Amino acid sequence: MRSGGSAVEALCGPAPAPKLPVPHVTPRLVLRPFCEGDIDSFAELMSDREATKYIGGAKSYDAAADSVRYMRDAFASRGWGTLAVELSTSKTCIGYCGVRPLVNTPDVELAFALKKATWNDGYATEASLASLELAFGYLPIDRVLATVYPENVACIRVLNKLGMTQQAPIFGAWPNNVALLFSLDRSSWARRTP
Ligand SMILES: CC(C)(COP(=O)(O)OP(=O)(O)OC[C@H]1O[C@@H](n2cnc3c(N)ncnc32)[C@H](O)[C@@H]1OP(=O)(O)O)[C@@H](O)C(=O)NCCC(=O)NCCS
Repeated sequence: MRSGGSAVEALCGPAPAPKLPVPHVTPRLVLRPFCEGDIDSFAELMSDREATKYIGGAKSYDAAADSVRYMRDAFASRGWGTLAVELSTSKTCIGYCGVRPLVNTPDVELAFALKKATWNDGYATEASLASLELAFGYLPIDRVLATVYPENVACIRVLNKLGMTQQAPIFGAWPNNVALLFSLDRSSWARRTP
């Protein structure tokens, strides 16, 4: 990491982390902090068994509401984290995207999930590119990781489109023992963007 310590130490330590400038507008989306008004829409996403198959399974309305408040509060206190993905046209929240601490590691991971009705229209790629732009643009990190189950072909396709490269597999991961680790380092990102 540029600070000499781990990414998460640098971002969660005593020195205040840079605050990501939000809302962040892309051609079709707005990435912004979650708010109470997102709970119904987010609960709909989290109740969908197919959409949540690789992200821990379906959740109750109350658990989804807790997640919205957790993401809202984490972003407010840290200044970075997962954001609500809003469609510019309808102003509705279709899911989440952004970087967050990767559990049990000193790194940050890119995470995203969107409502099924919006899949395969490039929204996850658009939101993820914006999230990487924010992360590498404002946070003292040298790389962003992502973990994905081998069966989650749509997610793997998105990570490939972002220019992330596959690392060694992680064994012992839920639900089928193996997960794939992807990584994008700052220099590759810098080479990728004009
Ligand atoms: C993964 C997810 C966010 C992708 O969102 P999205 O907006 O559909 O993503 P994009 O449209 O940007 O890209 C999806 C790509 O996967 C491809 N894809 C989708 N389903 C596929 C399948 N069954 N086989 C092969 N490719 C597939 C699409 O064709 C597209 O690639 P293309 O642009 O080359 O055509 C969405 O499927 C989702 O929310 N899934 C549930 C949550 C989840 O798994 N999150 C990721 C955890 S790692």
